Amino acid sequence: MKRTHKCNQVTAALIGQEITISGWIQRRRDHGGVIFFDVRDEDGLVQVVYNPESKDIFSMAETCRNEFVIFSKGVVSERPVGTANDNLVTGEVEIIASDLQILNPSLPIPFQLDEYSSVGEETRLKFRFLDLRRTEMQDNLRLRSKVSTSLRSYLANEDFIEIETPLLTKATPEGARDYLVPSRTFPGQFFALPQSPQLFKQTLMASGFEKYFQFAKCFRDEDLRADRQPEFTQLDIEMSFADSKEVMSLITKMIKQVFKESLSVDLGDFVEITYLEAIEKYGVDKPDLRNPLELVEVKELFKECDFKVFSEPANDKDSRIAAIKVPNGKLLTRKQIDEYTEFVGNYGAKGLAYIRVEDPSKGKEGLQSPIIKFIEDSIIESLIETLEVQEGDIIFFGAGKRNIVNDSLAALRDLVAKDLDLLTCEWAPCWVVDFPMFEKNKSGELTPLHHPFTAPNCTADELKDDPLSALTEAYDIVLNGTELGGGSVRIHDRLMQETVLKLLNINEKEAEEKFGFLISALQHGCPPHAGLAIGFDRMIMLMTGSDSIRDVIAFPKTQTASCLLTEAPGQAAQEQLEELHIRFHGLEKED
Ligand code: AMO
Ligand code: AMP
Repeated sequence: MKRTHKCNQVTAALIGQEITISGWIQRRRDHGGVIFFDVRDEDGLVQVVYNPESKDIFSMAETCRNEFVIFSKGVVSERPVGTANDNLVTGEVEIIASDLQILNPSLPIPFQLDEYSSVGEETRLKFRFLDLRRTEMQDNLRLRSKVSTSLRSYLANEDFIEIETPLLTKATPEGARDYLVPSRTFPGQFFALPQSPQLFKQTLMASGFEKYFQFAKCFRDEDLRADRQPEFTQLDIEMSFADSKEVMSLITKMIKQVFKESLSVDLGDFVEITYLEAIEKYGVDKPDLRNPLELVEVKELFKECDFKVFSEPANDKDSRIAAIKVPNGKLLTRKQIDEYTEFVGNYGAKGLAYIRVEDPSKGKEGLQSPIIKFIEDSIIESLIETLEVQEGDIIFFGAGKRNIVNDSLAALRDLVAKDLDLLTCEWAPCWVVDFPMFEKNKSGELTPLHHPFTAPNCTADELKDDPLSALTEAYDIVLNGTELGGGSVRIHDRLMQETVLKLLNINEKEAEEKFGFLISALQHGCPPHAGLAIGFDRMIMLMTGSDSIRDVIAFPKTQTASCLLTEAPGQAAQEQLEELHIRFHGLEKED
C-alpha cells in the first residue's frame, strides 16, 4: 500500500503506466454509473475514475464520501476529448482505477473545504484540522516555514547563534498584562510567561554572546485585534557593540532578501522618517507610505480667525489643525462625506469641515463649503496658496486636541485612499526613528514609548531635568502601515538604568525584585548593545496578503483569547488546585 506518486506528479508523461496514489477525497462525483474522485494530497489534485465493470472497487467507491483517506491503484490515461481541466497540472489525465482501499473514513464534514467562507470563523477554528487542509492555509503555513528557514540561514551566515530563553520566568515589562503560572514548589508564587525575551537577550550580551537570535514565543494578555494574538512569535535579535545604524542596515538587508527569495518582490529603498515627522504628516507612528495623502499643519493661518471651531485650537498649545488635500476628491459624494464625519466621530472628532475646490482661480467664489462663510477672505487665500489646491480637490480639516486630530485623520487618510483607490505601489517599507523616551499617560504619569531598557540620547542628569524632551535611539520597522518590528540601542549603564526606573516610579526594591538580575549583569561588564524584534506572524500576514493574523498561525486563539479546538482555557482538577494552594474567591467553581 505504498504510493508510487504524489498527486501532482500524475501528468501526461505517465500515460499508460500503472501507479498508486494516496490522499483525501476532495470531491466525489457520480456521473451516470461512473464514479469520479478528485484525490488530494499536500501537493495537488488528480482525478481517479471508478468504472462499474470493476464491481468490487466500484461498490467500495460508492460508499466513499468527501474527506475519506484512500489508497488507489490504476493506469494513467488521457482524459476524453473536451474534458481536460486547464487549471490543474494533472488536468490532461485521469487514473482508471484497478484497486481502492479506504485507509480511514470520515464523518460527514461540517463544511466543504472550498465553501469555508459560508460557515464563519468559529466553525473553522473548532474544526481547525479541516480548515488547515484548505490550499490557502496550507500555502500560508508553507510560506511561514520557508521564510523562517530563510531568516535562520541569513542570520547564521551573519554569525548569529540561536539561543532559547525560558518560558517560565519573571514578568517582562512590555506594557501588557502577564500570563501567570502558579508554582507548586513555591506556594503562593507565580512564574510569568515572557512578554518578550528582552531581559534574557540583554543578559546574553553580558554573557559574551555578541550576536544572538531566537524565534521566541511571547505572551501578552491584551485586547486583541486583527493583527494581535495573546501568544505570538517574534524573531528576536540582539548584537553587542552595535549601534542603531548597524542593526537597521542588517535588518533592512535581511527583510529585502527574504521578500526577494520567498515572493520575488523587490522592496526597494527603506525610507527613514522621524517619529515627529510621521505624526505631523500622517498622524501615526506607523504610516502607510503607499498612500500619497498627507496631513498639513494649518494652525498658524487660523490664529486670528472668527470661526471658533478653528480659532480655539489655533490658540491652544495642545491642539492642532490639520488639512488633508484629496486630489480628485470631487468623486466623493455628500453621502460619503457624511459617513466620513460619522467615522471621525468614533475617534472623538467633533466634526469634519471640508472645502470643495471648484475653480481655484476664482478665490473664495470658486470654493464650495459649509464653513467658508465663517472665514475671512485673506485666510482663505493663504489656505489656497499653502495647500496648492487644484480644481476638483477636496480638503478635509481636523481641528482640536492633537491626539484626537491625529487619530481621526490618520484613520480617515487610510479610508479615503481605500475608497478612491489611491495607493501608489504594492509595498512601502520605512524606518521610524528618533522616538521620544517617554510620553505622559492619561493619569499624567511618564510611560516609556518603547520599554524602560531603551537608551536615551542624553546624560542621566539631562534626562532627569527634562524627561519629556529626551529622544532615544529606538527604531521601528513599518511596512504598509503595519508595525513589523521595533528595537533600540539599550541602556548598558547601571546609573542610567536606575534613573529611568526612578522616573517611572519604580523604586530600587521593586527594580531589584523585578529585574535585579539584569541590573546585576549591567554592573559586571556588560558591553554596549542594541537589537530588535520582528513580529514574525505579522510579517507572514503581510507576505501572504491575509486579513487576519489567525490565518498564518496553525492553532490561533479567538478574540476572547480562547482556543476553540482544544477548548482551552479549561478548569483544573481539585487535586491540582490543592497542590498549588489555590482557592477561588467570588467565583463559583463548577464541578
Ligand atoms: P515590541 O513590543 O514592539 O518590542 O514587539 C515587537 C514586535 O512584535 C509584534 N507584536 C505582536 N504580534 C502579534 N501579536 C501581538 N500581541 C504582538 N505584540 C507585538 C509587533 C512588534 O513590532 N522586546 C522588544 C523588542 C526589542 O526592543 O528588541 C519588543 O518586544 O510586530
Ligand atoms: P458646527 O459649528 O459644529 O456646526 O460645525 C461647523 C462645521 O465645522 C461643520 O462642517 C463641522 O463638521 C465642522 N467641525 C466642527 N468641529 C470640527 C472639528 N473639531 N474639526 C473639524 N471640523 C469640525
